Amino acid sequence: MLKINNLTAGYGNGPDIIKKVTISVKEAEIVCIIGPNGAGKSTILRSIFGITDIREGEIIFFGENLSDTKTENIIKRGICYVPQGRSIFPTMTVKENLEMGGFIRNSQKEIDEGLAFAYSQFPKLFEKRHEVSKNLSGGEQQMLAIGRALMVQPKLLLLDEPSIGLSPKITEEVFEKCLQIKKNGTSILMVEQNANIALAYADRGYVLELGENRFEGKGSELLHNKKIGELYLGK
Ligand SMILES: Nc1ncnc2c1ncn2[C@@H]1O[C@H](COP(=O)(O)OP(=O)(O)OP(=O)(O)O)[C@@H](O)[C@H]1O
Ligand SMILES: [Mg+2]
Repeated sequence: MLKINNLTAGYGNGPDIIKKVTISVKEAEIVCIIGPNGAGKSTILRSIFGITDIREGEIIFFGENLSDTKTENIIKRGICYVPQGRSIFPTMTVKENLEMGGFIRNSQKEIDEGLAFAYSQFPKLFEKRHEVSKNLSGGEQQMLAIGRALMVQPKLLLLDEPSIGLSPKITEEVFEKCLQIKKNGTSILMVEQNANIALAYADRGYVLELGENRFEGKGSELLHNKKIGELYLGK
């Protein structure tokens, strides 16, 4: 589905932040990128979404090179992005936030379809649809951020640090939702600090360090790899 080949990218006139990164995502997969702070994990997701400066390499999505494509058209091709920190609109209701996620859809009918899809994944959002978003719990706000991205029924969801600020129990709920989203036909490329849980849920994982690929493998293999355990999983 997605093949990133030798991608080098940065911001403006600044240095290269990611260097010759290679990552792939297949259909019906959850793929996770782990690595230390500042490794360039978020920069990979932002590059796919068209908001960095790509200097070398390519991003192929269903056979089409996206590296020169505008964000709006990237969304239209079926990729959506939940940034680190969620960035929901706090004073808007849950429903209004979801509708913002559907801004690119052409008709009220399509927006209604998007809403129905988001609510089917997150029934809690339907219950709370008229509540002001800032009054939701942290976990509910994360679900809302994901639900908003699902408004366009993407083929690939880019998810940056979904567990940040959440208790272990709520984190697990979010990851269970990710499994359900995958089952319903949306692949997920995720960045996570909480590598232990992310690798437990991911089909495959990549370890990124100083902007470069370090290790890759099945989630369960990385989770049980002694060296990775010592370096990245606090074992
Ligand atoms: N908008 C920006 N403009 C300029 N430089 C940036 C920008 N965003 C990030 N950087 C640079 O890229 C480096 C990597 O940032 P990035 O956010 O990709 O790392 P990360 O692996 O996601 O880190 P974290 O785990 O802290 O979220 C940063 O140290 C910073 O120097
Ligand atoms: Mg980050």
